Amino acid sequence: MSRIPRAVLRQTESTFESRLPPAVKPLPRPEPTGRAIELAFLRWEKRDLGPTERFWRDFGMHIVSRTDDRLIARGAGPAPCIAIAEKGVRNRFVGAAFRMSDDTDLQRYVQTLGGHWLAPEVIPGGGQGVELADPSGRPVWLLQGQSTVDPLPVRAPLVADTNTAHHAPRVNRTVRAPIEPARVVRLGHVVMQTVDFARMADWYQRVLGIIPTDVQYLADGSPTLAFCRLNLGDRPADHHTVVIVGGIEEKVEHSAYEVIDLDALGQGQQVLRAQGHRHLWGIGRHVLGSQLFDYWFDPDGFEYEHYTDGDLFTADFETAYSPLEFGSIWAWGQDAPASMKPKKNLGTLLHVLGLLRRKAITPGRLKLLGQALDAPARPWA
Ligand SMILES: [Fe+2]
Repeated sequence: MSRIPRAVLRQTESTFESRLPPAVKPLPRPEPTGRAIELAFLRWEKRDLGPTERFWRDFGMHIVSRTDDRLIARGAGPAPCIAIAEKGVRNRFVGAAFRMSDDTDLQRYVQTLGGHWLAPEVIPGGGQGVELADPSGRPVWLLQGQSTVDPLPVRAPLVADTNTAHHAPRVNRTVRAPIEPARVVRLGHVVMQTVDFARMADWYQRVLGIIPTDVQYLADGSPTLAFCRLNLGDRPADHHTVVIVGGIEEKVEHSAYEVIDLDALGQGQQVLRAQGHRHLWGIGRHVLGSQLFDYWFDPDGFEYEHYTDGDLFTADFETAYSPLEFGSIWAWGQDAPASMKPKKNLGTLLHVLGLLRRKAITPGRLKLLGQALDAPARPWA
């Protein structure tokens, strides 16, 4: 009699730092220079602003202003700006801007970290700011004193009205979420890949005072991915606002935007599909951060995420560690597309050989990264 193999489903298992096995190295936590309290906006350079404007509108952002050489968008929340695109010669992510706490001394960044003061007219929402270069050379803006704007009206979330097996508040009423773009409320997080994970993780923690919520490590116990949250003290902060991912490139992986609820995510997907935009992945639920997600490409191939229902933590919550596995990025939903991993082609091979020649990465680390990414994500599927 033939036996039907039984699939063993498993979830990522995390361990708090205080109970870390000796083989796993804790992520060093440098003394912060100041404290970021919000990811304010992201800056882009685009050869043509028109397609980006159209995508941002269909994605659910609100266009604040458009000139021949600058496009500014906001969400429905009080931030005056969440995205800027300036006309240039390349399509590229320029860098992130963070709002810093009032007790952060920006002058310290000028004196000790090579920063320089920004001209006030370049900062949407006003205030003052300093520009620094991160270890990969990407400019990072630290801002204070930005004005806020009145929030735009959005529909009430439908979640409170959800009928479940044991609780049914919705009787003699239906669910009819409007077919409209997903109405981005705010910018949530940015994920950056880097070759030198240790240096970038140290720099962003030092500069922004961010706290690692979840750290993932390679088979040799070395940390190589950090989901970091803002230090807002007792005020709950998103599971991650900045994510540093060790890899073979310096690039932005994706940026993520919070929408009202799951129905906004779903209707937003329909609108983006109807407008001919390119879908990447979703709808599903993440493991680390727990967000319900849906990923899209902008017209130039940059990845944008809609999300809702993410985890929140206060500053005192302990850092957790888990092994780096491709399957650990989603709890359920369709499989993550293979395009989210490095392409296995001649270009990647030549690039990796260049990294090895420059000693930017060791053969051992490269092998461990490959193992983590190549392990089947859903062995039971
Ligand atoms: Fe994300």
